[in-house]
Amino acid sequence: PTGLLSDALARPLHDLRISITDRCNFRCVYCMPKEVFDKDYAYLPHRDLLTFEEITRVARLFVAHGVEKIRLTGGEPLLRKDVERLIAMLRTIETPSGRPLDLTLTTNGSLLARKARALKDAGLDRVTVSLDSLDDATFKRMNDVDFPVSTVLDGLDAAHAAGLGPIKVNMVVKRGWNDGEILPMARHFKGSPFILRFIEYMDVGASNGWKMDEVVPSGEVVRIISAELPLVPADPNYSGETAQRWRYADGSGEVGVISSVTQAFCADCTRARLSTEGKLYTCLFATSGHDLRALLREGRSDAEMSAAITHLWRARTDRYSETRTINTEGLATGARKVEMSYIGG
Ligand code: GTP
Ligand code: 5AD
Ligand code: SF4
Ligand code: SF4
Repeated sequence: PTGLLSDALARPLHDLRISITDRCNFRCVYCMPKEVFDKDYAYLPHRDLLTFEEITRVARLFVAHGVEKIRLTGGEPLLRKDVERLIAMLRTIETPSGRPLDLTLTTNGSLLARKARALKDAGLDRVTVSLDSLDDATFKRMNDVDFPVSTVLDGLDAAHAAGLGPIKVNMVVKRGWNDGEILPMARHFKGSPFILRFIEYMDVGASNGWKMDEVVPSGEVVRIISAELPLVPADPNYSGETAQRWRYADGSGEVGVISSVTQAFCADCTRARLSTEGKLYTCLFATSGHDLRALLREGRSDAEMSAAITHLWRARTDRYSETRTINTEGLATGARKVEMSYIGG
């Protein structure tokens, strides 16, 4: 990437992930377990959320500093009212390089069949859809709200028909829960327009009760698939890509593996994260963020905001995944990591 700004470990700023709601209609066991995210859970009050105008202003400043990819996340981003209006606003931002801004969104797919067309019309380039199983019972056990898999598959088709591609499908693999679905998922998406990616279950947040023995290492995933459907390694599409790519030897497409646990990719991590309430996090596993909303609401100028962003990124030394063992142990007594549904994955 051609970042205009580099951090303390010489990593440019290239992506901004913006969480636009901390709510979700799913209760995935690895993300928002029901015992924690129950009816008494304190979600952010509406006044605490960045408005679309505030989000767009911050995004514009980040793009001026070299960001060329913006991903909307959540919670479930399609639950935010009038999300199409935000997309249309972000679409107007121009990059200093003149390259088009890659505007994308990560969704659980539950509302996609209804919304795909409007998202495309608003200017969204593509979507990534989370899907943990094709088997309805397993899928329902993972989302824990009895949501049927057929609706998500309809959403995928609608997104494809609307031209929201290339579409990626993310499967978080949790041992004992959906590891039996690795091969069925690979068979199903092989030769399709969808790029399937397997994600190692991560120790993100402080609620999911993560245990190392529930992680299925990507090496194992590749071996399982390759035994039936031979795979050969492929080069990354871009520097800093989260996934390692593998092509089917018979030429019918590819899969990706995202190995944050067994093969950390901090060395070229170019991602900044903006939380739902406007805090800037320089790592997915951070315990605290920098309050940009306070600056916005104090009426600071663009120049002042810009200086704050520059300062924060230049000072960045985060590389949590590379030092996980130490941190995970330390955290038993230390600060709580922020939740995935709040920081946006
Ligand atoms: P592409 O633009 O399609 O390459 O997307 P992406 O892989 O950057 O984003 P996506 O939302 O699809 O993320 C896939 C998985 O990788 C999710 O589980 C994310 O939480 C995880 N992930 C993304 N960025 C990071 C990161 O910086 N660190 C870690 N540890 N995990 C990440
Ligand atoms: N480990 C790995 N991936 C996770 N996601 C949510 N929680 C976790 C976790 N604990 C994934 C979602 C989505 C992406 C943004 O993050 O399934 O695909
Ligand atoms: Fe919702 Fe996505 Fe978290 Fe599942 S992983 S609970 S769909 S935010
Ligand atoms: Fe980036 Fe932090 Fe993830 Fe490492 S752990 S890749 S620094 S977000």
